[in-house]
Amino acid sequence: MTATIIDGKLMAATIRAELKEEVRKLKDLGVTPGLGVILVGDDPASKSYVTAKERACEEVGLFSDDNRLPATTTQAELLDRVRQMNADKKIHGILVQLPLPKHLNEGEVLSAINPDKDVDGFHPINVGRMVLGQKAYLPCTPHGVVQLLVRNGVKLKGAHVVVVGRSNIVGKPLANMLLQKKEQANATVTICHTGTKDIGYFTRQADIVVAAAGHPNTITADMIKSGAVVIDVGVNRVEDASKKSGYRLVGDVDFENVKEKASLITPVPGGVGPMTITMLLFNTVESARRTVK
Ligand code: GUN
Repeated sequence: MTATIIDGKLMAATIRAELKEEVRKLKDLGVTPGLGVILVGDDPASKSYVTAKERACEEVGLFSDDNRLPATTTQAELLDRVRQMNADKKIHGILVQLPLPKHLNEGEVLSAINPDKDVDGFHPINVGRMVLGQKAYLPCTPHGVVQLLVRNGVKLKGAHVVVVGRSNIVGKPLANMLLQKKEQANATVTICHTGTKDIGYFTRQADIVVAAAGHPNTITADMIKSGAVVIDVGVNRVEDASKKSGYRLVGDVDFENVKEKASLITPVPGGVGPMTITMLLFNTVESARRTVK
Protein backbone atom coordinates (compact mmCIF):
# COMPACT_ATOMS: atom_id res chain seq x y z
CA MET A 1 0.00 0.00 0.00
CA THR A 2 1.21 3.51 -0.77
CA ALA A 3 -0.27 6.17 1.44
CA THR A 4 -2.25 9.19 0.34
CA ILE A 5 -0.32 12.24 1.46
CA ILE A 6 -2.32 14.72 3.52
CA ASP A 7 -1.82 18.25 2.23
CA GLY A 8 -1.70 20.35 5.40
CA LYS A 9 -1.06 23.53 3.42
CA LEU A 10 -4.21 23.09 1.41
CA MET A 11 -6.26 22.26 4.48
CA ALA A 12 -4.84 25.28 6.29
CA ALA A 13 -5.65 27.50 3.30
CA THR A 14 -9.27 26.28 3.36
CA ILE A 15 -9.67 27.08 7.05
CA ARG A 16 -7.89 30.44 6.65
CA ALA A 17 -10.33 31.38 3.89
CA GLU A 18 -13.20 30.62 6.32
CA LEU A 19 -11.51 32.73 8.99
CA LYS A 20 -10.92 35.62 6.59
CA GLU A 21 -14.67 35.80 6.07
CA GLU A 22 -15.25 35.77 9.86
CA VAL A 23 -12.70 38.55 10.30
CA ARG A 24 -14.43 40.63 7.63
CA LYS A 25 -17.73 40.30 9.51
CA LEU A 26 -16.11 41.23 12.83
CA LYS A 27 -14.49 44.29 11.23
CA ASP A 28 -17.93 45.37 10.02
CA LEU A 29 -18.96 45.28 13.69
CA GLY A 30 -15.95 47.43 14.56
CA VAL A 31 -13.73 44.67 15.98
CA THR A 32 -10.37 43.74 14.47
CA PRO A 33 -9.11 40.52 16.10
CA GLY A 34 -5.70 41.22 17.63
CA LEU A 35 -2.91 38.85 18.61
CA GLY A 36 -0.12 39.90 20.97
CA VAL A 37 3.07 37.97 20.30
CA ILE A 38 6.07 37.87 22.65
CA LEU A 39 9.37 36.31 21.64
CA VAL A 40 12.24 36.43 24.11
CA GLY A 41 15.77 35.88 22.78
CA ASP A 42 16.89 34.82 19.34
CA ASP A 43 16.46 31.08 19.01
CA PRO A 44 16.35 30.64 15.19
CA ALA A 45 13.52 28.07 15.14
CA SER A 46 11.37 30.24 17.45
CA LYS A 47 12.11 33.31 15.31
CA SER A 48 10.93 31.56 12.18
CA TYR A 49 7.74 30.28 13.90
CA VAL A 50 6.94 33.78 15.16
CA THR A 51 7.57 35.34 11.76
CA ALA A 52 5.26 32.76 10.17
CA LYS A 53 2.58 33.56 12.78
CA GLU A 54 2.83 37.28 12.08
CA ARG A 55 2.56 36.70 8.32
CA ALA A 56 -0.48 34.48 8.83
CA CYS A 57 -2.17 37.21 10.90
CA GLU A 58 -1.64 39.65 8.08
CA GLU A 59 -2.97 37.19 5.50
CA VAL A 60 -6.24 36.65 7.40
CA GLY A 61 -6.66 40.31 8.43
CA LEU A 62 -5.75 40.13 12.10
CA PHE A 63 -3.86 42.87 13.89
CA SER A 64 -0.64 41.61 15.46
CA ASP A 65 1.33 43.36 18.17
CA ASP A 66 4.84 41.96 17.83
CA ASN A 67 7.23 42.11 20.75
CA ARG A 68 10.75 40.85 20.27
CA LEU A 69 12.46 41.09 23.62
CA PRO A 70 16.19 40.56 24.31
CA ALA A 71 17.45 37.30 25.85
CA THR A 72 18.40 39.35 28.93
CA THR A 73 14.73 40.23 29.67
CA THR A 74 13.94 39.66 33.34
CA GLN A 75 10.96 37.74 34.71
CA ALA A 76 9.49 40.99 36.05
CA GLU A 77 9.80 42.73 32.66
CA LEU A 78 8.18 39.82 30.88
CA LEU A 79 5.32 39.60 33.38
CA ASP A 80 4.83 43.35 32.98
CA ARG A 81 4.49 42.99 29.21
CA VAL A 82 1.98 40.15 29.62
CA ARG A 83 -0.10 42.23 32.06
CA GLN A 84 -0.11 45.20 29.67
CA MET A 85 -1.50 42.88 26.99
CA ASN A 86 -4.08 41.48 29.43
CA ALA A 87 -5.36 45.05 29.87
CA ASP A 88 -5.23 46.03 26.19
CA LYS A 89 -8.70 45.87 24.58
CA LYS A 90 -7.20 45.67 21.07
CA ILE A 91 -5.56 42.35 21.96
CA HIS A 92 -7.83 39.29 22.02
CA GLY A 93 -5.12 36.62 22.13
CA ILE A 94 -1.69 36.48 23.76
CA LEU A 95 1.08 34.17 22.66
CA VAL A 96 4.37 33.82 24.49
CA GLN A 97 6.64 31.76 22.26
CA LEU A 98 8.11 28.72 23.99
CA PRO A 99 10.65 27.64 25.01
CA LEU A 100 11.67 30.67 27.06
CA PRO A 101 15.33 31.24 27.95
CA LYS A 102 16.34 29.09 30.95
CA HIS A 103 16.44 31.94 33.48
CA LEU A 104 12.72 32.62 33.02
CA ASN A 105 9.94 30.76 34.84
CA GLU A 106 7.66 29.48 32.07
CA GLY A 107 4.88 28.27 34.38
CA GLU A 108 4.60 31.62 36.10
CA VAL A 109 4.48 33.48 32.78
CA LEU A 110 1.81 31.21 31.28
CA SER A 111 -0.28 31.51 34.45
CA ALA A 112 -0.08 35.32 34.23
CA ILE A 113 -1.93 35.36 30.88
CA ASN A 114 -5.63 36.17 31.21
CA PRO A 115 -7.27 32.75 30.57
CA ASP A 116 -9.80 34.48 28.28
CA LYS A 117 -6.90 35.62 26.05
CA ASP A 118 -4.96 32.37 26.33
CA VAL A 119 -5.22 31.36 22.66
CA ASP A 120 -2.42 28.82 23.10
CA GLY A 121 -4.56 26.97 25.67
CA PHE A 122 -1.57 26.59 28.02
CA HIS A 123 -3.00 28.33 31.12
CA PRO A 124 -3.76 25.80 33.88
CA ILE A 125 -7.41 26.93 33.83
CA ASN A 126 -7.76 26.12 30.12
CA VAL A 127 -5.85 22.85 30.52
CA GLY A 128 -8.21 21.90 33.36
CA ARG A 129 -11.29 22.86 31.35
CA MET A 130 -10.06 20.83 28.38
CA VAL A 131 -9.38 17.74 30.51
CA LEU A 132 -12.85 18.03 32.06
CA GLY A 133 -14.42 18.30 28.60
CA GLN A 134 -15.56 21.90 29.20
CA LYS A 135 -15.41 24.75 26.67
CA ALA A 136 -11.76 25.84 26.46
CA TYR A 137 -9.19 27.19 24.05
CA LEU A 138 -7.60 24.07 22.63
CA PRO A 139 -3.81 24.05 22.16
CA CYS A 140 -3.07 24.78 18.52
CA THR A 141 -0.97 21.80 17.42
CA PRO A 142 -3.24 19.07 18.83
CA HIS A 143 -6.29 21.01 17.63
CA GLY A 144 -4.71 21.11 14.15
CA VAL A 145 -4.01 17.37 14.27
CA VAL A 146 -7.67 16.63 15.10
CA GLN A 147 -8.83 18.91 12.27
CA LEU A 148 -6.51 17.17 9.81
CA LEU A 149 -7.90 13.79 10.82
CA VAL A 150 -11.55 14.82 10.82
CA ARG A 151 -11.39 16.81 7.57
CA ASN A 152 -9.73 13.83 5.87
CA GLY A 153 -12.56 11.53 6.91
CA VAL A 154 -10.60 9.56 9.51
CA LYS A 155 -12.98 8.01 12.04
CA LEU A 156 -11.87 8.65 15.60
CA LYS A 157 -14.72 6.96 17.48
CA GLY A 158 -13.42 3.56 18.63
CA ALA A 159 -10.07 3.97 16.86
CA HIS A 160 -6.91 3.06 18.73
CA VAL A 161 -4.65 6.12 18.65
CA VAL A 162 -1.07 5.81 19.87
CA VAL A 163 0.49 9.17 20.71
CA VAL A 164 4.28 9.05 20.91
CA GLY A 165 5.41 11.93 23.13
CA ARG A 166 4.03 13.45 26.33
CA SER A 167 4.90 17.13 26.06
CA ASN A 168 2.58 19.73 27.57
CA ILE A 169 2.27 21.32 24.12
CA VAL A 170 1.31 18.26 22.06
CA GLY A 171 1.23 14.75 23.54
CA LYS A 172 -0.65 15.34 26.80
CA PRO A 173 -3.34 17.67 25.40
CA LEU A 174 -3.84 15.60 22.23
CA ALA A 175 -4.36 12.39 24.22
CA ASN A 176 -6.87 14.19 26.44
CA MET A 177 -8.76 15.68 23.52
CA LEU A 178 -9.06 12.34 21.73
CA LEU A 179 -10.36 10.41 24.71
CA GLN A 180 -13.27 12.78 25.43
CA LYS A 181 -16.72 11.23 25.05
CA LYS A 182 -17.59 13.65 22.25
CA GLU A 183 -17.95 13.97 18.51
CA GLN A 184 -14.55 14.13 16.79
CA ALA A 185 -13.06 12.08 19.64
CA ASN A 186 -14.06 8.98 21.64
CA ALA A 187 -10.90 7.11 20.70
CA THR A 188 -8.94 4.56 22.71
CA VAL A 189 -5.69 6.34 23.48
CA THR A 190 -2.27 5.01 24.41
CA ILE A 191 0.60 7.37 25.23
CA CYS A 192 4.19 6.25 24.68
CA HIS A 193 7.21 8.21 25.84
CA THR A 194 10.90 7.94 26.68
CA GLY A 195 10.04 5.64 29.60
CA THR A 196 8.19 3.16 27.35
CA LYS A 197 10.10 -0.13 27.00
CA ASP A 198 9.03 -1.11 23.47
CA ILE A 199 7.25 1.67 21.58
CA GLY A 200 6.79 -0.56 18.51
CA TYR A 201 4.77 -3.06 20.56
CA PHE A 202 2.15 -0.34 21.01
CA THR A 203 2.35 1.46 17.66
CA ARG A 204 1.88 -1.82 15.74
CA GLN A 205 -1.58 -2.07 17.35
CA ALA A 206 -2.55 1.48 16.37
CA ASP A 207 -5.11 2.54 13.78
CA ILE A 208 -3.62 6.03 14.07
CA VAL A 209 -0.06 6.90 15.16
CA VAL A 210 0.79 10.47 16.11
CA ALA A 211 4.54 11.05 16.36
CA ALA A 212 5.42 13.97 18.64
CA ALA A 213 8.71 12.80 20.12
CA GLY A 214 11.09 15.43 18.73
CA HIS A 215 13.59 12.99 17.18
CA PRO A 216 14.05 11.95 13.54
CA ASN A 217 13.27 8.29 12.68
CA THR A 218 11.43 7.61 15.96
CA ILE A 219 8.78 5.82 13.89
CA THR A 220 10.01 3.33 11.31
CA ALA A 221 8.03 1.12 8.90
CA ASP A 222 8.32 -2.00 11.09
CA MET A 223 6.49 -0.10 13.86
CA ILE A 224 3.36 0.53 11.76
CA LYS A 225 0.35 -1.68 11.04
CA SER A 226 -0.45 -1.90 7.34
CA GLY A 227 -3.08 0.73 6.47
CA ALA A 228 -2.57 2.84 9.59
CA VAL A 229 -2.89 6.63 9.54
CA VAL A 230 0.37 8.37 10.47
CA ILE A 231 0.54 11.98 11.65
CA ASP A 232 4.00 13.48 12.06
CA VAL A 233 4.24 16.43 14.44
CA GLY A 234 8.05 16.44 14.53
CA VAL A 235 10.08 19.37 13.19
CA ASN A 236 13.77 18.51 13.33
CA ARG A 237 16.67 20.28 11.63
CA VAL A 238 19.20 17.88 10.13
CA GLU A 239 22.43 18.94 8.46
CA ASP A 240 22.25 19.04 4.68
CA ALA A 241 25.21 20.51 2.81
CA SER A 242 23.17 20.65 -0.42
CA LYS A 243 20.89 23.33 1.12
CA LYS A 244 21.79 27.00 1.23
CA SER A 245 20.79 27.12 4.91
CA GLY A 246 22.95 24.05 5.63
CA TYR A 247 20.00 22.09 7.02
CA ARG A 248 16.66 20.59 6.05
CA LEU A 249 13.54 19.88 8.06
CA VAL A 250 12.46 16.32 8.80
CA GLY A 251 9.76 14.91 11.05
CA ASP A 252 9.87 12.10 13.59
CA VAL A 253 8.74 9.51 11.02
CA ASP A 254 10.87 7.68 8.45
CA PHE A 255 8.57 9.12 5.78
CA GLU A 256 9.95 7.35 2.68
CA ASN A 257 9.48 3.86 4.12
CA VAL A 258 6.43 4.44 6.30
CA LYS A 259 4.44 5.91 3.38
CA GLU A 260 4.66 2.49 1.67
CA LYS A 261 2.76 0.92 4.55
CA ALA A 262 0.36 3.60 5.81
CA SER A 263 -2.99 4.55 4.26
CA LEU A 264 -2.68 8.27 5.03
CA ILE A 265 0.39 10.22 6.12
CA THR A 266 1.42 13.83 6.73
CA PRO A 267 4.68 15.17 5.27
CA VAL A 268 7.20 17.47 7.00
CA PRO A 269 7.17 20.27 6.08
CA GLY A 270 3.63 20.89 4.79
CA GLY A 271 1.65 18.66 7.13
CA VAL A 272 0.84 19.62 10.70
CA GLY A 273 2.91 22.85 10.71
CA PRO A 274 0.55 25.06 8.67
CA MET A 275 -2.39 23.77 10.74
CA THR A 276 -0.83 24.86 14.06
CA ILE A 277 -0.70 28.49 13.01
CA THR A 278 -4.16 28.28 11.50
CA MET A 279 -5.66 27.05 14.77
CA LEU A 280 -3.94 29.94 16.57
CA LEU A 281 -5.76 32.32 14.23
CA PHE A 282 -8.95 30.33 14.83
CA ASN A 283 -8.67 30.76 18.62
CA THR A 284 -7.87 34.48 18.30
CA VAL A 285 -10.88 35.07 16.04
CA GLU A 286 -13.03 33.10 18.51
CA SER A 287 -11.78 35.27 21.37
CA ALA A 288 -12.63 38.44 19.40
CA ARG A 289 -16.08 37.03 18.55
CA ARG A 290 -16.78 36.54 22.27
CA THR A 291 -16.30 40.28 22.84
CA VAL A 292 -19.18 41.15 20.51
CA LYS A 293 -21.65 38.57 21.86
N1 GUN B 1 6.62 26.47 20.76
C1 GUN B 1 6.38 25.37 20.00
N2 GUN B 1 5.06 25.25 19.72
C2 GUN B 1 4.45 26.28 20.34
C3 GUN B 1 3.10 26.69 20.43
O1 GUN B 1 2.16 26.08 19.90
N3 GUN B 1 2.87 27.83 21.13
C4 GUN B 1 3.88 28.52 21.75
N4 GUN B 1 3.56 29.60 22.43
N5 GUN B 1 5.14 28.16 21.69
C5 GUN B 1 5.42 27.04 20.99
